[in-house]
Amino acid sequence: CVKAHLKTIPPLCARVLLLCVKRFLEPFRLSQKTLQDISSRLTQDMIKGLGRHSHHKAPVKMLPTFVRATPDGTEKGDFLALDLGGTNFRVLHVRVNEDEKSVLKMDSEICAIPQEIMTGTGEQLFDHIAACLGTFLEKQGLKEQVLPLGFTFSFPCEQKEIDKSILIRWTKGFNCSGVEGRDVVQLLKEAVRRQGDYEIGTVAMVNDTVGTMMSCGYRDQSCEIGMIIGTGTNACYMEEMCNVKRVEGEGGRMCINTEWGGFGDDGSLRDIQTQFDLEVDRSSINPGVHIFEKMISGMYLGEIVRLLLVKMTEDKILFSGKVSEKLRTSGAFLTKFISEIEHGSFQRILSDLGLQWSTADLRAVHLICDTVSSRSAQLCAAALAAVANRIRTNRGLDHLDTTVGVDGTVFKKHPTAELRSMVHKLAPKCTLKFIVSEDGSGKGAAMVTAVAQRIASVSCL
Ligand code: GLC
Repeated sequence: CVKAHLKTIPPLCARVLLLCVKRFLEPFRLSQKTLQDISSRLTQDMIKGLGRHSHHKAPVKMLPTFVRATPDGTEKGDFLALDLGGTNFRVLHVRVNEDEKSVLKMDSEICAIPQEIMTGTGEQLFDHIAACLGTFLEKQGLKEQVLPLGFTFSFPCEQKEIDKSILIRWTKGFNCSGVEGRDVVQLLKEAVRRQGDYEIGTVAMVNDTVGTMMSCGYRDQSCEIGMIIGTGTNACYMEEMCNVKRVEGEGGRMCINTEWGGFGDDGSLRDIQTQFDLEVDRSSINPGVHIFEKMISGMYLGEIVRLLLVKMTEDKILFSGKVSEKLRTSGAFLTKFISEIEHGSFQRILSDLGLQWSTADLRAVHLICDTVSSRSAQLCAAALAAVANRIRTNRGLDHLDTTVGVDGTVFKKHPTAELRSMVHKLAPKCTLKFIVSEDGSGKGAAMVTAVAQRIASVSCL
């Protein structure tokens, strides 16, 4: 269709325009060699993050999660789950059914977190969470029960135990005062106490990557990697305990939350950051934090495209040089527009942005969206290859077959062929099977709680 339209404008003009756009996009194209190099840099940073003495300064935090086992299929019971850290806050009631090997979401509710709470005080945030939980229990007739609770809290936390978790720093759009450096489980329990009319049982803290791995693990017990490409990006995997220097004990494995979003926070990705990445970082609420995430995830991709469009229009390459007020507004180009444009629906988006376009502009916008989303997929592939290669070398295997549980809108809405084929090129000795998690943050949190209970009951025997 675009080709047909292009015939209606002078071919040279369209060709020159596209050449200019391609030149502009050059810094976004990463060769396989560069990606291989990025993958190796991440491997080095992962080692630094695991080290007893080097982890304090490590940009990739490699946080122990105290999840020591994946599901074995015998877990069972009713659980509550809270999910904070994506676009919405959710409360869930989950049933793990041993006989049917199923994890059922009995019911769930989304509670909006208003912007002023996201950047207000910690007490306000936790009171809001506890109030939403209370309302949910009331509606479900569960207020009299004391159910164990899995809390998916998708921010970097220094976990001391499965139920003690200190927030290192806020990421994504959150910035509540008085929470960094505090135990999140404690803050939740205090807020529940303030509500005063219900109780919760044991609490297990879970990162969303861990929930994703665990929810897929009930179906496929070789699932040892969890990956999120959504509002933020991150991955966890099963590491050998002997390499987890910060936790006592040598035997078995522990799930490590890599927090790979922080890769580059020490300047190690400066060579691949474009002027647009630098601008996105500068204008974010946490400059200098989570540099890798800012090149990959849903919270930032739309803004990168918007900045590219503004610059190319100012340079008179696009839209006859006319930048609309709307296009100048930060956040006006949503990340979901990228996949909509990749799937071919342009006109409404561009007219809502107050732009007037030629058919050549359309093709250029398509190319820009494609390039930004393709770089995101390739960078993720480089990171995932580092994790897979690490598991393989840890175990001294010539070849690793493993499963990756994945979640996040960016993964679900964009073509994944590029990510898969690049991982294959960068980690040729690993075969990865991808399972898209259904509600990993909710069901996975219940699963972590269930596994923790199973292990606790075995060790009591
Ligand atoms: C951010 C958080 C991380 C989370 C990821 C995906 O990177 O720091 O904990 O897993 O977003 O939601």
